[in-house]
Amino acid sequence: MIERDKNSRVLLLQSYAGIELQGDCPYKSCYAKAASYGNAANRLDHISRSRSFYDCLRNPSSFMTIITFMALWTALLSCNICAANGLAKGLIKQSVSQQVRATNDHQTVQNNFMTDTTGGKDATGRKVQALLSKMTLEEKIGQLNQYNGDWAATGPVTRTVQDKLQQIREGKVGAVLNITGTAHVRQFQQAAMKSRLKIPLLFGMDVIHGYRITFPIPLAEAASWDTAAIKKSARIAATEAAAAGLNWTFAPMVDIARDPRWGRVMEGAGEDPFLGACVAQARVRGLQGKGLGSLDAVMACAKHFAAYGAAIGGRDYNSADMSLRTLWEVYLPPFLAAEKAGVATFMNAFNDLNGVPATANRYLLRDVLKGQWGFKGFVVSDWGSIGELVQHGYVMNDQQAAAAALEAGCDMDMESHSYIRYLKQLVQEKKIDPALIDDAAGRILRKKFELGLFVDPYRFIDSTRERLTLNKPENNAAARDMARKSMVLLKNKDHLLPLSAATTQCIALIGPLVKAKKALKGFWSLNIDPNEQIPSLWDGIQAEAPKARLCYAKGCNINDSLRLGFQEAIEAAQKADIVIMAMGEAPDMTGEAKSRSNIHLPGVQADLIKAVVATGKPVVLVLMAGRPLIFNWAKGKVPSILYAWWSGSQGGLAMADVLFGKYNPSAKLPITFPKSEGQIPIYYAHYNTGRPATSDSDKLYKTGYIDLSIFPAFAFGHGLSYTTFSYSHFSWHYCTYQNQPAIAVSFALKNTGKIAGAEVAQLYIHNIISRPLRPVKALKGFKKVMLAAGASKNVTIYITRQSILSYNEKLEKNVLPQRCQFLIGSASDDIRLKSAIIDHLFEKPPGGTR
Ligand code: NOJ
Repeated sequence: MIERDKNSRVLLLQSYAGIELQGDCPYKSCYAKAASYGNAANRLDHISRSRSFYDCLRNPSSFMTIITFMALWTALLSCNICAANGLAKGLIKQSVSQQVRATNDHQTVQNNFMTDTTGGKDATGRKVQALLSKMTLEEKIGQLNQYNGDWAATGPVTRTVQDKLQQIREGKVGAVLNITGTAHVRQFQQAAMKSRLKIPLLFGMDVIHGYRITFPIPLAEAASWDTAAIKKSARIAATEAAAAGLNWTFAPMVDIARDPRWGRVMEGAGEDPFLGACVAQARVRGLQGKGLGSLDAVMACAKHFAAYGAAIGGRDYNSADMSLRTLWEVYLPPFLAAEKAGVATFMNAFNDLNGVPATANRYLLRDVLKGQWGFKGFVVSDWGSIGELVQHGYVMNDQQAAAAALEAGCDMDMESHSYIRYLKQLVQEKKIDPALIDDAAGRILRKKFELGLFVDPYRFIDSTRERLTLNKPENNAAARDMARKSMVLLKNKDHLLPLSAATTQCIALIGPLVKAKKALKGFWSLNIDPNEQIPSLWDGIQAEAPKARLCYAKGCNINDSLRLGFQEAIEAAQKADIVIMAMGEAPDMTGEAKSRSNIHLPGVQADLIKAVVATGKPVVLVLMAGRPLIFNWAKGKVPSILYAWWSGSQGGLAMADVLFGKYNPSAKLPITFPKSEGQIPIYYAHYNTGRPATSDSDKLYKTGYIDLSIFPAFAFGHGLSYTTFSYSHFSWHYCTYQNQPAIAVSFALKNTGKIAGAEVAQLYIHNIISRPLRPVKALKGFKKVMLAAGASKNVTIYITRQSILSYNEKLEKNVLPQRCQFLIGSASDDIRLKSAIIDHLFEKPPGGTR
């Protein structure tokens, strides 16, 4: 079905007139494409399939011809001399409706435009330059301006704009955010089509873990260590988002996070740069699909550049202060990986890094990102972060903020209004170089060309596609699968899990999250369909164990001190064969600006667990949260604990799948779980120090606490299965991998249990001697291997020499460990195989000393 709108005829004619008038306006290529379709009938057919923008060409009539000439006349009045020359050409070439019946000669002209006849490499670059040469300074600045739409705000609105659509018509806006749904997007794009040069808008939104179908939160997905599944999840999100008119998402967040108090820990891939880089690439590739220009791809955005995850004290937006070495070793690798995967855009972080706000950080943006890494996309500020340079105390006012951010390399201003208000004046007063504006606008226009928006600004706006694409059953199935893959079995004493649907007679479901539905979607699920049916854990268990008697007691709320429901919960437990408790945070306790100082189970939930466990009934604890929580008593006393995170719109079914063994859990923690907030930051890849403690009794003059363990509650990489795996036959040798010098590490993995299962085998390098120092253990590879019961497999993990290099004091990446060891394990604290100690890796043959 072709979507039409009342104005499309006039719009088309105006813009096509614009093409002819301006000689080489990018829209020309659309007509050229149609022209290349051979005979007039075919061309008409193609043009009419090009949807509303070109609908008017479908039935050329005398009415149309009149409108065409009116449009040409209007354009003549409003355009420059160059345009007037074009008009002459345009008139000679006849009206738009006549062009539909174009001659072969005409086709040749159009085809020449489509083909890069200049022999150069960068045809898009030339189109950008041609367009820039026609733009006024104001129009270029307009491209650098991004406003929030009129639907929802995902940040503090500091300045209200009454006439956004009018500003769009005036060419003062290059992108909008938080406008979604084809009808709504169309309204804004139509306004852009009324601007002088009709440069299409970009439409961005935080599609963080799904658009309509919500997948597990990113931290949960990272726990799957399944990059193919993560890519698929991003692919589905992009397909839905693009069908709803969007062409840009502000994802993936690739910030390394080692402080679970930080609310945005939920949005990244956890603490490790290697895993973080793998996940970043999977997400970028998933979101951008076959590449910009595909109708199911959106631009990805690597954020927040850089070191946002290192907010001091875990307080959102706080400063980050670290050595450049830590920046390069820990915080930058996922960004570099995203860049290498072709991410279209980057977003600045809110924080300052070592005293320079990231938004005005020339070192990060110009030296590293656009210089050293050669990034060709564009950088968008975070919401209002240019204006916030004033609050940082980095500049005096918004005008200086605009200058500082642009000079540093921030191309687009999200919602601070500083560029649109001050850049022109700054150029006129010669306070900034106009070439910087050209560069920024050029980067943005390049992406618009790559997205195909100049061919058809409405190409992402198709209500039929939207209707047919959202909520597809197979995509719901993928969300359920991703959710199962994300849930971490932390503990399973005496194989209490999986439960048997056939033999379990009475199940007590207790806790404030048993019947949670929308909450399962977690933070950052912006596009909620009010009619969406979201199955809760209760629904999932009912479906999974239809013969069992279920009883429910809420017991308590998530976060208050009321104990009125305790007695009912205890009685429910007493009557049951097994108790499943669903506890955790509220979904809005993680996410942006949701940092917490106390990350224990909130409210009186821990006490409810104690009361229920005291009944003596076997208890399974299902925890839902967006961050690692602290639950030490439960860890010690509850036999089985499943960490389900926020598992998305299919999470209720997925939890039941895992609890009843329809899916054998395979996830591993992507972040360390502390025993106490006092241990934070706690992560496995620490340095050894001069006085390392080896146990909690080893306290005298050692790197530890006198009042607290140094060990985590659950280590990075930990996660159990309903089966067991053995590791044996370790070997390694030098090889070439992906045309690079590399090492192949091999071992045999066997499923020693009675059911099929997947193991994430992890390869760490244990650094013994190195200058500068390196972490005691660093993840360098992993493989998720599915094995039938009793089956075994030889597994090989390759590590390139490049990936083992670390940085010297001058930040040159050229240092190999002097003495090290390879470790293979099921978790960072569960190492099963070790190589001999190796001196001078890559310089001496395998073997080494012991
Ligand atoms: C602020 C957040 O930090 C960023 O991640 C998000 O993309 C923008 N708001 C837009 O919503």
